[in-house]
Amino acid sequence: MSDTGLRVCVTHSIKGIEARKSFNPFFIPPFTDHLPISHTMNELDTLVESARQSFAQALTPADLENAKALFLGKAGRITELMKGMAALSVEDKKTRGAAINIAKQAIEAALNDHRQALADAELQAQLKAEALDVTLPGRSANLGGLHPVSLTLERVEQIFGSMGFEVAQGPEIETDWFNFTALNTPEDHPARSMHDTFYVEGGHLLRTHTSPMQIRHAVQHVKRYKNQLDAGQGMPEIRVIAPGRTYRVDSDATHSPMFHQCEGLWIGENVSFKDLKVVVTDFCRTFFESDDLVLRFRPSFFPFTEPSAEIDIQFQSGPLAGRWLEVGGSGQVHPNVVRNMGLDPERFIGFAFGMGMDRFTMLRYGVNDLRLFFDGDVRFLSQFQ
Ligand code: DAH
Repeated sequence: MSDTGLRVCVTHSIKGIEARKSFNPFFIPPFTDHLPISHTMNELDTLVESARQSFAQALTPADLENAKALFLGKAGRITELMKGMAALSVEDKKTRGAAINIAKQAIEAALNDHRQALADAELQAQLKAEALDVTLPGRSANLGGLHPVSLTLERVEQIFGSMGFEVAQGPEIETDWFNFTALNTPEDHPARSMHDTFYVEGGHLLRTHTSPMQIRHAVQHVKRYKNQLDAGQGMPEIRVIAPGRTYRVDSDATHSPMFHQCEGLWIGENVSFKDLKVVVTDFCRTFFESDDLVLRFRPSFFPFTEPSAEIDIQFQSGPLAGRWLEVGGSGQVHPNVVRNMGLDPERFIGFAFGMGMDRFTMLRYGVNDLRLFFDGDVRFLSQFQ
């Protein structure tokens, strides 16, 4: 036995042959019919094993047929062994023939096994190559996100909240009283023409601004502290913001029939225009994360404030650097409005402001067409998640 270091354990058993043997699979035995029968038994065993090895190495059916010819073909090893029996005695022929037959059957079994294995492998390869995925892709549940204007409203509430402002919500379908008259804008006031809106049956209208919340909230506040006020005592200051949807008959790249505002109100016994400037400036700088943002309070007119001012901001850097941009209106609350809140304007004073939330969102994200916010285009909206 040559010393390749390779040893295979033979486990099949052939009657009369030692069951376990170490052998070299690359050893092809010489023709051995001249040897005594006892010697040829191991030889047959080795032959079977070498057939097995040859079959195992065949990677295609053609290889296997070639290997088969070596052992079972007309000029194959088994045929040669059979032929070699001619000279044997009848008795030896019997024994030898039986042993060769067993070896032959073992080789045929090994051949069939490998044939089957090759056929299986071929089938598997074919199945794999022709695999067809008939399943539909699953429906992915896309995660939604907040609308950019909602993100702004959340941010505004959070910033004003940190300055001690409450957040109030009010109806979008308003009465004439809260939307106009209580805000010092009687029926024939020319300022109403800039607030053309959608009128609803029953004398109601879609609110044109969030300012009606000034009155609604203040009236509630005053009611809550009525006893204290009646007894000549003070009340906690009113400090509130009211963000929400508003409506006007307006539609172009910077105006939408529905838009968003955030109202602010601070009423107390000692609140001044200086406080308004500090609060609004702090808010804008925090919102835009820009400490060098400059604000300008440009004199203006609103029926519900006196004096009144437009709030303009100016960025010092970025694409809008140097330009003045109007972001809201403000002013000291008009005495008539303070009275409509149920308070004495000789004692209570304060300021109010109203800011356009869509404008804030456009400036923060660099969006130049307001209509993008309301088209519902996911390609646009998904950029804000
Ligand atoms: N309501 C005003 C508008 O829609 C904005 C505004 C101006 C609100 C001055 C205020 C204010 O509270 O004091 O144009």
